[in-house]
Amino acid sequence: MQLSVEIILILVSLSCVITIPVPDNTDLARIVNGEAVDITEVPYQAALRRRVLSGWAHSCGAVIITNRGLLTAAHCVEAFVSQPSLLRVVVGTSSRLNGGKTYDVSAIYSHEAFSATTLENDIALLATSKVIEFSESVAPVSFASEHYVLPAGTGAVVSGFGTTSYEGSSSEVLKAARVSIVSQSVCARAYLRIATIGAGMVCANGSNPPKDACQGDSGGPLVVRNVLVGIVSWGEGCANTNYPGVYTRVSEYSPWIRQKLEILRTTG
Ligand SMILES: *[C@@H]1O[C@H](CO)[C@@H](O)[C@H](O)[C@H]1NC(C)=O
Repeated sequence: MQLSVEIILILVSLSCVITIPVPDNTDLARIVNGEAVDITEVPYQAALRRRVLSGWAHSCGAVIITNRGLLTAAHCVEAFVSQPSLLRVVVGTSSRLNGGKTYDVSAIYSHEAFSATTLENDIALLATSKVIEFSESVAPVSFASEHYVLPAGTGAVVSGFGTTSYEGSSSEVLKAARVSIVSQSVCARAYLRIATIGAGMVCANGSNPPKDACQGDSGGPLVVRNVLVGIVSWGEGCANTNYPGVYTRVSEYSPWIRQKLEILRTTG
């Protein structure tokens, strides 16, 4: 998904390229037509980096939920489950490449039923090897419980360091966009010919100009009034007015999240 400010018009024309919403890499999504924000406005935002030959590269977003636990998308970490040392999280910075504090990932809990084909259950919990220090720019966000009601039209904020247009370049600064929740039936109809919108997914889009997450935003937060309701998952292009962005519906997974946090707490 993508929220960047400038690139919107270009975006809209590019995004008519139809792609099948299957993750072929670890950075499916990022913010299109958003605005630059300071990390203190979204202190739960983290960046996931993966080991590459030359060092570390931005791969996805992540969300701080406890002082050792972050949520992200399963499609971001699937390839690393047995090698968590190839991943790091960076917190407390508004810049994609600089600043903040880096933590090694010590364990990856990817959802057991994640499907790379349907993108169902696209959620994972990351454990850091050290306790994350909280501050004005580093803080956890609470996550929606299984009883959380999310009506169509609810305003939400999606943020990330991803590309500002489909297959465009990544943003150097943190961006956020305001989007609205799209009802399950309307979203299912929009995707009817190309994908199934499961109960574990929630859709959102933004207007004037079209706003969305995009590549590199995957795994990042969709937040309603300080509650994490979605994790950036996939979409048909980015900010495509015919196809809302699709997020992992956090409330569906809150028992799973609590179970993994409990494992984290007891295994240290
Ligand atoms: C949001 O998605 C719905 C369903 O596809 C569509 O009817 C509506 O026009 C979209 N709104 C924007 C702003 O893209």
